[in-house]
Amino acid sequence: MGTRGREIVGKHADRVIELLNKAFADEWLAYYQYWVGAKVVSGPMKDAVIAELMQHAADELRHADMVSNRIIQLGGTPVTTPMKWFEFSNCKYDEPSDPFVKKILEQNIGGEQCAISVYHAMIEEVAGKDPVTWNMAAQILQDEVTHEEDLQALQEDLELMLKGRT
Ligand SMILES: [Fe+2]
Ligand SMILES: [Fe+2]
Repeated sequence: MGTRGREIVGKHADRVIELLNKAFADEWLAYYQYWVGAKVVSGPMKDAVIAELMQHAADELRHADMVSNRIIQLGGTPVTTPMKWFEFSNCKYDEPSDPFVKKILEQNIGGEQCAISVYHAMIEEVAGKDPVTWNMAAQILQDEVTHEEDLQALQEDLELMLKGRT
């Protein structure tokens, strides 16, 4: 823990750590959902979808790293067992039980939209209280917005292909 670093967050630190641990659980669940989705996905354009999902999975893991570093800076402990991920997470885990590419894209777009809402809410709540967490959440939000757009662009191409227009 950085003592002066925590001091500037003052009485808000415990609440910020709680928000961060919830986002941390989300990132791990998103990482696994995208990673395993990339393994099982099938159907048209699957190679392009696999490449995108693997890139997103790597980004979610990097986000988990960023969030855990901030938790530790504030004197907290990142959730230490995967058993707690479901308890802490904001976004549900969408099991890729149907491997069809259209379904996997829909599930993962839902995941990105949830992540966008989570980081947007975090930014609003910590504004004026914790500039370091604000800045981290803004960086992650930027990635999640890009992720949503990447997947929706693939979804549009897939729709065209399924309609036989390409
Ligand atoms: Fe993320
Ligand atoms: Fe994402």
